[in-house]
Amino acid sequence: MPGSGLILGIETSCDETAAAVVERGAGTISSVVASQIATHARYGGVVPELASREHLRAIVPVVRAALAGANITLADLDAIAVTSGPGLAGALLVGITYAKALAFANRLPLIAVNHLEGHIHAVLLNQRELKKERESTSSENDPGAGAPSKLRLGKVAQTSTVYSSISAEPGAPGPASGTWDSPNPAPALSLVVSGGHTHLYLAQPTQGTWRYMLAGRTVDDAAGEAYDKVAKLLGLGYPGGPWIDALARFGNPRAVPFSFAQIKTKAHLGGKAPRTKAAKTAPIARLDPHFLFSFSGIKTAVLRYVELHGMRAEAKARVSRLFPRAPTFSESAPADPERLGDHVPRPAIPQTREEALGLCPQPTLDLIASFQHAVVGDLMKKTFSAAESLGAKRILVTGGVAANRELRARFTEEAARRGLAIAFPTLALSTDNAAMIAAAAWPRFLAQEFAPASLSADPSLTLA
Ligand code: KG4
Ligand code: ZN
Repeated sequence: MPGSGLILGIETSCDETAAAVVERGAGTISSVVASQIATHARYGGVVPELASREHLRAIVPVVRAALAGANITLADLDAIAVTSGPGLAGALLVGITYAKALAFANRLPLIAVNHLEGHIHAVLLNQRELKKERESTSSENDPGAGAPSKLRLGKVAQTSTVYSSISAEPGAPGPASGTWDSPNPAPALSLVVSGGHTHLYLAQPTQGTWRYMLAGRTVDDAAGEAYDKVAKLLGLGYPGGPWIDALARFGNPRAVPFSFAQIKTKAHLGGKAPRTKAAKTAPIARLDPHFLFSFSGIKTAVLRYVELHGMRAEAKARVSRLFPRAPTFSESAPADPERLGDHVPRPAIPQTREEALGLCPQPTLDLIASFQHAVVGDLMKKTFSAAESLGAKRILVTGGVAANRELRARFTEEAARRGLAIAFPTLALSTDNAAMIAAAAWPRFLAQEFAPASLSADPSLTLA
């Protein structure tokens, strides 16, 4: 049934317009991400209307760049995959409508992919690429092995400088490397931690496809949302994660003792209805309360700390230093699509202690380090106890927050201490991209699970 094995993935669920060509869910041929960060940065968060408009501007050049980067045309594809949810309705619709039109015009099957499953497949794709790299290194010593391929797997084509092209930087192979697709794979406890989600799933591969069981989730804000809100409060750039990640290295993580109270399921059922969209769509009541997260409290605690310690003015001064003036409408909407994502200068994230101290006084760096230490500690505690309670011997951490250095280091250390396998995607595959969507579509392509012509966006689509 597969011909070329090539799937074009399209992702527009939030603030990245992305397209990628992936071969058999196991090799990224090209991957292009046009980020809208510059557009949303000054608002401290994603503005849905601006996101849809930017996707409309970027979708055609991004898909063209992905095809050109793979050195193929639409006729070389086996299928087109697109994120159908969860995400912003208007943003999702841009990708879905374009994918549908391309599939219809080129008589290609269309595959709908859940964005959260995409994040999980980012790890699996990376694991397969690492395995392939190892095998090709060993076969290089054996000239008779392997047939020459038209497309070189594991090598990502370079694209225009306007877009970021996903590089082949190594992930964190850990002890699980190469064992994720073994014939009798054990279930993997998967933490999907991003700007919109903090979910724990038990992922079980069965006969080529993956089944998911929801084990835990946030009852209010996602961890990435807390990063973004705290960064905004402290007058740092958007998205907040990379800023806090960089600055936390220069602060004392034990300076401010933040704590997380145990969440009681009954309080959430009997009390006021949860306000966030994520909380409304979840079957929180049937989950073990030990595996529920809540990140709105720590955001409020940081706010109180800032007010109590007179840090408001300092944060205000910082934001006007980083973003000297509001842009005009025309500035944030360049007419020339070649300049997409390039039109608003982005402030640089401090990398050295001197640069960090040039931006934040030591007590602010201490507050940032303490916030991150507490968030990572809470994610760790619940993930590892869920793994233990569900008997999972391997852990997979993915989503934008999985790019965090402290998170990777502490999770890796704890997994080693407990004798568990652990895997993360590469940094580029942690945040939103389309390679993960094309990879997640491969088992669906083999099972011929195609989307109907009536496919529409489902902003609150769940995985389990
Ligand atoms: O997966 P993603 O790109 O988009 C969603 O599906 O939400 O995740 C974006 C989130 C943002 O909240 C961002 O602040 C966070 O991931 N993030 C990080 C880091 N890089 C991105 N959080 C902590 N540390 C990082 N290095
Ligand atoms: Zn995401």
